[in-house]
Amino acid sequence: MVAGECKRESGRLISLIQNLTHTHSMAAAATTLRLLKPLSSAASPLLAPFNNPTINRSVAPLLLFSSAAVSRHHRRFCTVVSASVSSGEATKAEPIELEKGAKIREFRRKLKIVDIKGGVDEGLNRLGETLVVRGWVRTLRAQSSVTFIEVNDGSCLSSMQCVMSSDAEGYDQVESGVISTGASVWIQGTIVASQGSKQKVELKVDKLVTVGTSDPSFPIQKKRVSREFLRTKAHLRPRTNTFGAVSRVRNALAYATHKFFQENGFVWLSSPIITASDCEGAGEQFCVTTLVPNTSEPAHSPVKAIPATKDGSIDWSKDFFGKPAFLTVSGQLNAETYATALTDVYTFGPTFRAENSNTSRHLAEFWMIEPELAFADLEDDMACATAYLQYVVKYILENCKEDMDFFNTWIEKGIIDRLSDVVEKKVVQLTYTDAIELLLKAKKKFEFPVTWGCDLQSEHERYITEQAFGGCPVIVRDYPKAIKAFYMRQNDDGRTVAAMDMLVPRIGELIGGSQREERLDYLEQRLDDLKLNKESYWWYLDLRRYGSVPHAGFGLGFERLVQFATGVDNIRDAIPFPRAPGSADF
Ligand code: 4AD
Ligand code: MG
Repeated sequence: MVAGECKRESGRLISLIQNLTHTHSMAAAATTLRLLKPLSSAASPLLAPFNNPTINRSVAPLLLFSSAAVSRHHRRFCTVVSASVSSGEATKAEPIELEKGAKIREFRRKLKIVDIKGGVDEGLNRLGETLVVRGWVRTLRAQSSVTFIEVNDGSCLSSMQCVMSSDAEGYDQVESGVISTGASVWIQGTIVASQGSKQKVELKVDKLVTVGTSDPSFPIQKKRVSREFLRTKAHLRPRTNTFGAVSRVRNALAYATHKFFQENGFVWLSSPIITASDCEGAGEQFCVTTLVPNTSEPAHSPVKAIPATKDGSIDWSKDFFGKPAFLTVSGQLNAETYATALTDVYTFGPTFRAENSNTSRHLAEFWMIEPELAFADLEDDMACATAYLQYVVKYILENCKEDMDFFNTWIEKGIIDRLSDVVEKKVVQLTYTDAIELLLKAKKKFEFPVTWGCDLQSEHERYITEQAFGGCPVIVRDYPKAIKAFYMRQNDDGRTVAAMDMLVPRIGELIGGSQREERLDYLEQRLDDLKLNKESYWWYLDLRRYGSVPHAGFGLGFERLVQFATGVDNIRDAIPFPRAPGSADF
C-alpha cells in the first residue's frame, strides 16, 4: 500500500512518501524524501496523491522533516559519494547506509480506467472502493443536483463517468467553469453502481483537482469531426475515440508481432536506417547528406556551398560517409546476413520511400516487419506469412474487443466477421499467370490494361481478393522476373521468379516477399543484366560464397496491417504522424 501527503513549507514543497508493504512493519518501512520546486498552482498540494493508484484510508501517521533537516541529510549523502570518488577508491567505498541517501521510489503501475472497468464485470467487483482517476475531460453536464464529468485516460475506449455533487471538495472549479472539455483532472471518489444504462459503475466524486485547464479554443469538442480535419490536429487527435482505438490496436498488433516471432524462435534484428544500398532498386530513396549546409535558415543555403567535382557533379567523397547514403527502403539485405548465421530473424522498424504516391495506401515513412528464414523456400515463406497474419488478427480479436466493436459500429460494418474469416479460412494461392487469366476473363473494366508481364495495380489486386475470392486473402506467386527486384530466385522457366504478394480486401498488397537467389552465378548475372554495381553488393554476394543456403522472407507494411485490422480507409490515419509528399507536419 502506498500513502502520501504533502506539506508546503517556506515556499518549498516537501513531499513525504511512505512505502509500506503488507509484510513490512511501520518501523521497518523505508521513508523517501522528495524535494519539489515551489509550485503555485492549486494542484500542488496533491502531487503526491497523483502517484497513488488507490488511497488507503488506514494510513499510518506521517513523519515530517523540516527543509533544514532535508539539506543536512542531502549534504551527508554528497560527502560520502565525493570522498569515495576523489580518493579513486570508488569500488572500495563503504556501503552507504540507507538513511544517508534518499531511496528511489518503487515503480508502480498506475491505476487506469481499463483496470477499473475493463474486466468481465465492468467494475462491479470494485463497488465501494475509494480510488483515483486521472485523465482528460471529454464532456461535462451540469444538472440541478449533480454534475456528470466524463473522464478518459486513453487506457480504453470507455470513459469514467464521475458524478459530483455540490458538497464534494473542488466543486467551486465546476461552478467557476474551470473544468471544460480537454482539461486534465485528478479525481478521487468511490465506485458505485451506475444509475445509467451506459455503464455498470461510476465514480462518486469526493475531491476534484484541475491539473491543467483547457482553453475554450480546444478543437475537439463533442460533435463529430472529419478525419481530414483531425489530420490537421495530429497532436490532439489521439484524444478522440477513433484515434485512441487505432493507437491501442496498433500497439496490440506490434506486441503480437514480437510475440509471434519470439514464440517461433526468431531473433529480432535492428537493421540500419542509414544505408548505401538500394534494396528494391527502385530509386525511391531519400538522401542523407551533410553536403547541404546545415544552417538555421535552410532557405538561404547557397547552392555553391555544395562541393562539386571538376566536371560539375556533386563531390560525394566530401560527404559525411564519403559516398552517397540514404534512408533505408527495406532492412531485407541486412536481415539476410543475420539469417545466414542465426537461421530465423526479423526486423521491425521504420523504412522510407520517396515515391510520389499521394494515395490512401502509401506513406513516405512507414514501418515494416521483415522476417527472413534460412533453410526455407517459397512454400515456407507463404506458410510463415499466413500463420503470422492469422496470429496477429486473432490476437486483436481476442484482446481488443471493445475497440474492435467500436470499429465494427463506426468505421467498417462487418469488420469483425471479415477478420474472423481471415483467422478461420484458408489463404488461397495462385500463380501470377493464373491471376492474369482470371483478370482477362473478368467482366469488370479496368483502368490499367491487363497483359502478361504487367505489374498488378491496386484495382487488379482488389478485384482478385474482393470479388474473385470473396474477401479472402490471396497469395499471388511466381511473378515475371522483369517486374521484380534483383534478389528474387529465378524459377526454372527462366522468365518468372519465386516471388509472392499477399493481397487483402480494401488494401490490395499487404505483404511482398520471395525466395532469395542463393546461387552466386545467377545473382551476379542478374546484377549485370540490371546494370547494378556489383562491387557495392560485395558483402551481399559473400553470403552466397560462404555457406549459402536456400532462404526466403517477406515484408509487411505495418500501417497497411493497421488499416486492414481497424477499417480506417486512409493510411495516414494508421500512423501517429504521417509523412507523405508535401506533408511532414508535427
Ligand atoms: O513489396 P515491398 O517493396 O518489399 C520489400 O521491401 C521487400 N524487401 C520485403 C522483403 O522481402 N523483406 O514492400 C513490402 C511491403 C508492401 O507489401 C507494403 O505492405 C508495404 O511494404 N509498403 C508500403 N507501405 C506504406 N507505404 C509505402 N510507400 C509502402 N511501400 C511498401
Ligand atoms: Mg511489393
